[in-house]
Amino acid sequence: MTRLRRLRQSAALRALVRETELSVHHLVQPLFVREGVRVRQPIRSMPGQFQLSVDELLKEAEQIVAVGVPAVILFGIPDRKDAKASGAYAANGVVPKAIRALKQQLPGLLVVADVCLCEYMSHGHCGIVRKTPKVGGANLAGGYRVDNDATLKLLAKAAVVYADAGADIVAPSDMMDGRVAAIRAALDARGFVEKPIMSYAAKFASAFYGPFREAAESAPQFGNRKTYQIDCANVEEALREVALDIEEGADIVMVKPALAYLDVVHRVKEQFHHPVAVYNVSGEYAMVKAAARSGWPRTDVRGWLDEKAVVLEMMTAFRRAGADIIVTYWARDMARWLEG
Ligand code: PBG
Repeated sequence: MTRLRRLRQSAALRALVRETELSVHHLVQPLFVREGVRVRQPIRSMPGQFQLSVDELLKEAEQIVAVGVPAVILFGIPDRKDAKASGAYAANGVVPKAIRALKQQLPGLLVVADVCLCEYMSHGHCGIVRKTPKVGGANLAGGYRVDNDATLKLLAKAAVVYADAGADIVAPSDMMDGRVAAIRAALDARGFVEKPIMSYAAKFASAFYGPFREAAESAPQFGNRKTYQIDCANVEEALREVALDIEEGADIVMVKPALAYLDVVHRVKEQFHHPVAVYNVSGEYAMVKAAARSGWPRTDVRGWLDEKAVVLEMMTAFRRAGADIIVTYWARDMARWLEG
């Protein structure tokens, strides 16, 4: 008789047949950087995460490196936003400054630069917004639309600025059509032929981004992102997005969010045999933190969930589904938990 419990009798036996291993080598820690000095501003909806000025970012990064996390991904919060997202491609913007500081002080740390315009736009959308006359394409609230092709130029400019500053990987998260090709061409033209692109290829229009929009101060001021991000109902469409990004030159393709989209991760891995990343997003982080309530911001411990056990289970599921890379706000904690 087959008895599957035979191999579950002891921890050693279970470890012997464990199919999926977790390691710190696959983790990327997101960090929010803003102007100023000695700024360490807690993000209300993401306990344990902060908006950091460059000096504080360096301290944080040092600790991240010390526990063995190999990579960070940077999001910038500029002092001023406008309708052209000038801060996104300013050579002395907050992200290029942070990249230069990180690469100088911690050269071994991989620095990924998120490439998007929403944090830098006064209206919070990921592209150039235009008022449309009545006919066609009035696809945001109030007759506004996002101008895809005009946006590509700015994204490409931003990617070159981050590469110039020393970013190891650029990661477009805007979901404009053709952005990977535009960024690849711009990087190559500047001699950055070996700079990898990690594209947020299958990025869904998700309510799980709520806390991030507080963190990055990037919530759209009108309308929503459904005219550029994928409908959560669609996996075929997600696969077409991934196919296009790979054709256009993406070196790593990302699925985002993670938890509710593991079928997508699995199919992307099976179909494309490409390095796959998942983004374990802010809402996924906030849910667990709220249920576990590990002492921040209040000191009472709710304990509805065991944070460490739940997070290790989630991370194992991401890897089991086919993710090579996990972008997660728990990267630093994970490194400690894995050591223990
Ligand atoms: C920017 C961007 C977003 C996230 C990463 N890059 C927000 C959005 O699309 O609204 C979400 C990350 C998270 O929720 O943790 N386009």
